[in-house]
Amino acid sequence: PGITVEPITFALFGALGDLALRKLFPALYQLDRAGLLHADTQILALSRESGEPATHKARIEQALRTRVPKGELDEQALSRFSARLQYLAMDFRRADDYMALRDCVPAEQPLIAYFATPAAVYGDICRFLATAGLAEQARVVLEKPIGHDLASSRVINDAVAEHFPESRIYRIDHYLGKETVQNLIALRFANSLFETQWDQHHISHVEITVAETVGIEGRWGYFDQAGQLRDMVQNHLLQLLCLIAMDPPSNLTADSIRDEKVKVLKALAPITAESLHQRVVRGQYAAGNVAGVSVPGYLDEENSNAESSTETFVALRADICNWRWSGVPFYLRTGKRMAQKLSQIVIHFKEPPFYIFAPEQRALISNRLIIRLQPDEGISLQVMTKEQGLDKGMHLRSGPLQLNFSETYKSTRIPDAYERLLLEVMQGNQNLFVRRDEIEHAWQWCDQLIEGWNRLGAELKLYPAGSWGPVASIALITRDGRAWYGDL
Ligand code: BG6
Repeated sequence: PGITVEPITFALFGALGDLALRKLFPALYQLDRAGLLHADTQILALSRESGEPATHKARIEQALRTRVPKGELDEQALSRFSARLQYLAMDFRRADDYMALRDCVPAEQPLIAYFATPAAVYGDICRFLATAGLAEQARVVLEKPIGHDLASSRVINDAVAEHFPESRIYRIDHYLGKETVQNLIALRFANSLFETQWDQHHISHVEITVAETVGIEGRWGYFDQAGQLRDMVQNHLLQLLCLIAMDPPSNLTADSIRDEKVKVLKALAPITAESLHQRVVRGQYAAGNVAGVSVPGYLDEENSNAESSTETFVALRADICNWRWSGVPFYLRTGKRMAQKLSQIVIHFKEPPFYIFAPEQRALISNRLIIRLQPDEGISLQVMTKEQGLDKGMHLRSGPLQLNFSETYKSTRIPDAYERLLLEVMQGNQNLFVRRDEIEHAWQWCDQLIEGWNRLGAELKLYPAGSWGPVASIALITRDGRAWYGDL
């Protein structure tokens, strides 16, 4: 379909892990099914587990059968995929094991080394790829989280940079691969209608909600160390904020876009200890009911430690100190086990400067642009019109101008974020990946917030699973005379 992809070797480190089985293999299969993998492309599944390679391969194939929607499982594509797949047991920390890997990689082919392992191993993998003489032909793909704070992310990035130039490092934030997230760029910069209104003269505030209904899905060990701020805000939510707030890049090259995003991160006002309680709410879910199903609280999850005060919810007010956004708060919130799976951005436009309508209708008047990332991807613009009917006079009503992607483009399936991202790496395009300085500025901003929590004692508010979060998160926005849009 108009995309040419050269033959490559795709080496997946951590091939039997949760991410690989749930997301990466299904995404590779979909690319293969769509005819986007070259006939000579091979996939190497690398993991520490020894034993019969055929058994591990069968496990990967089984994961595909479980994860790929029934209608998209095509026996011919599955057997083609299986023919390119090879399993290799190796210890990622042993230089010798990389010799067997080298024997599988044709010298003339680009090698994509995807690290779906704990970040602590990234440095070793890079070093041993280099010792095995594979670094020159390789691009490396780094999964999040890269570190725990600015200092640890620097150590990891330094270790990778010793062997790879930035131009061959692809840091994943899978939100950047979502179709609707990429649409933010089209929406903002292909429509002069919006761009001329996109500033503090016309916008009163912005909301970004990423609510999940899932809990921690058996990942206590990782999640309890991280918490929702590090797991979701430091990366996904700040990336969304950057795409909404950045200035127009002068072209679509990776660095032009990333330069603009970095400027936004640099302009974020620090949330200091003094403003912490006013501007940030930390929550943890208690037992409750999500979509009719009773679920345990965070402290009763599998392998939990009943003492934990890790947050599973964060709401905060961010301010961007620059000419465009001065005085326009960005309210962010994200949590596990919330009422609904919903990712959406709401841009609230200012009220008209003068009212010619009946004063009691004043509260009604407000334009909003709602960008729905998931589910039901689409864009809706709330506009004011007149109510119809002879008896209505000049009564106003708010109605949507709506673009629902799944309905409008019925025949096209919406690809998973990882499909897009893997394809971009194969094409050597870094647009949708995060540059080192972006990660570092994002950490810097989160670090000062965490430091405030550490210093003042991080207050933790409980919320019942299946709700919209702690009551305090409602107070966070009502204090400014506003409300979260659309909460039921
Ligand atoms: C991941 C987080 O990066 O994103 C998970 O580690 C989270 O905790 C997931 O559940 C959410 O992704 P999505 O695409 O389902 O919104």
